[in-house]
Amino acid sequence: MKILAIETSCDETAAAIVRDGTTLIHSVIASSSEMYRKWGGIVPEVAAREQLKSMIPVLSDALFPLQQSVYSNLQPFDAISEHIDAIAVTVGPGLIGSLLVGVETAKTIALITGKPIIPVNHVIAHMYANFIRNRTDERLSLSREKENNNTITFPAVSLVVSGGHTELYLLKSPDELTWLGGTIDDAAGEAFDKTARLLGFENRGGRAIEQAASEFSVQRSKFGIKLPRPFLPDQPYNFSFSGLKTAVVREVNSLKKHQQLNNKTIGQLAFEIQESITDVLVKKTLKAAQEFNATSALISGGVAANKRLREKFKLSIQPSNNLTIHAPPAAFCTDNAVTIACCAYYLGTPLNWREVNASPTLSSDSTKDLH
Ligand code: KG4
Ligand code: ZN
Repeated sequence: MKILAIETSCDETAAAIVRDGTTLIHSVIASSSEMYRKWGGIVPEVAAREQLKSMIPVLSDALFPLQQSVYSNLQPFDAISEHIDAIAVTVGPGLIGSLLVGVETAKTIALITGKPIIPVNHVIAHMYANFIRNRTDERLSLSREKENNNTITFPAVSLVVSGGHTELYLLKSPDELTWLGGTIDDAAGEAFDKTARLLGFENRGGRAIEQAASEFSVQRSKFGIKLPRPFLPDQPYNFSFSGLKTAVVREVNSLKKHQQLNNKTIGQLAFEIQESITDVLVKKTLKAAQEFNATSALISGGVAANKRLREKFKLSIQPSNNLTIHAPPAAFCTDNAVTIACCAYYLGTPLNWREVNASPTLSSDSTKDLH
């Protein structure tokens, strides 16, 4: 089954074609994230306008491999009619203006070609990046016995860590999932982004913190800043990172007061922020894995691109646990349409275009509530 997927929930415009939820045929992404440097965050109206402009070129590029045939060059809609079985589209959660661009484009394609639409929950979709088989670069797939153990076995626990969400799920099979817990305030990506701004970095600060932390860890000084690890012992599968942000505000103000906020202390704070967030994410995921006898742990979402997080999961493989850790290549951790196509294959319900609507506040703790 070949699915054409569209993703426009935040500031990316993406389209991809995936076969049987596992084989990537083509993926195209355009992002307007660079535009927000001067504003320090995404401007929804600007994001939606850029997506309107990018949607058709992105779609056209994504369809290109389908249009080529030995006998003829197919027109885009003929290529969809001939080769595609369903159109998947992110219906939520996300920015309403952005979601509408993708949803209305999917409806137009469905109306013209008669193909069904599969509505997809963006947060849940992130974890399905782990099911892609033909992209091995930077993929983390590690068990006690061997590296590159690509087989996902069940039960599996799944940690989704994106800009707005930190969620833990239990999967009994690829299409049977239960929500275990999530963030009660700031998500992990949000904590990276907000603390990055406090340290003077620009929009989407996770990568900037990772960079500053890696520079610091190479030339560690004796000067010690220690930040809290919000483990929430009585809420094992919930997350709360707003206290970490408050602690960073306190440290930054104190360093400023003593005229000690410089590259070295910024590096040290970045290092501690990354250690704190990754310690919490790894500990809670492993606890869930242990409690539910999981044999795989899937990591996904933008924060899963973080090398220190991947390293900590790798180091967590103990002789005592029969657990394989899986994380997608970094390009499939951040927003893309490949995850949407994979998720649609495993979880989707094909619908008529009239039944599909954008749903900006779609919940991530339910798999039934997709449209
Ligand atoms: O999944 P994603 O692309 O978009 C959402 O659905 O939100 O995640 C974006 C988040 C941002 O908070 C960004 O700072 C974070 O992922 N991120 C990282 C890294 N790359 C992206 N956080 C830590 N380390 C990274 N290397
Ligand atoms: Zn996302």
